[in-house]
Amino acid sequence: MKIGRVTLSDRAAAGIYKDESGPEIERVISNLFEEPVEFVSVLIPDDKELLISQFIRLVDELDCPLVLTTGGTGPSARDITPEATKVVLDKELPGFGEIMRMESYRKVKTAILSRAIAGIRKRSLIVNLPGKPSAISECLSLLGEAIVECLDHIRGYRPTLSNKLHP
Ligand code: MTE
Repeated sequence: MKIGRVTLSDRAAAGIYKDESGPEIERVISNLFEEPVEFVSVLIPDDKELLISQFIRLVDELDCPLVLTTGGTGPSARDITPEATKVVLDKELPGFGEIMRMESYRKVKTAILSRAIAGIRKRSLIVNLPGKPSAISECLSLLGEAIVECLDHIRGYRPTLSNKLHP
């Protein structure tokens, strides 16, 4: 299974600090699914047009069934991930953002600041995740069954969930 993972961070893209969120997506996804996964990794600054062009590359050209973003979902002026995602989606799936905010809120009250969205472009599922590495496993581990079911609906393909649902 080919998965696009996109880190949105001005500072990580400038080399000011190391991107830990992208590798964390790879770790959690590899624990979530039995299938071997090939990741297409992208690290870009918080730039709306750049993100839109990466979505088009990952979905339209590379045909990744799943594209995960991390970062840029908050309230700051530079946070544009949900806006860029909305531009490319054919169909929004509000449940992903709703459950991430609701479940994360039990642990972290600031989780309601995330504006993460998700949805379908062509035959690909795009999901925004928050930027913090700890938030990635908290959120992704909630989504495995919905991702499998969604890929079945849009591709007729069901990746196998591993037993390590809570990595
Ligand atoms: N979700 C979880 N599970 N854990 C967290 O620590 N942090 C929140 C929220 N969601 C957080 C979380 C905070 S403080 C912000 S500002 C938003 O995610 C947006 O983060 P982002 O801009 O890095 O995407």
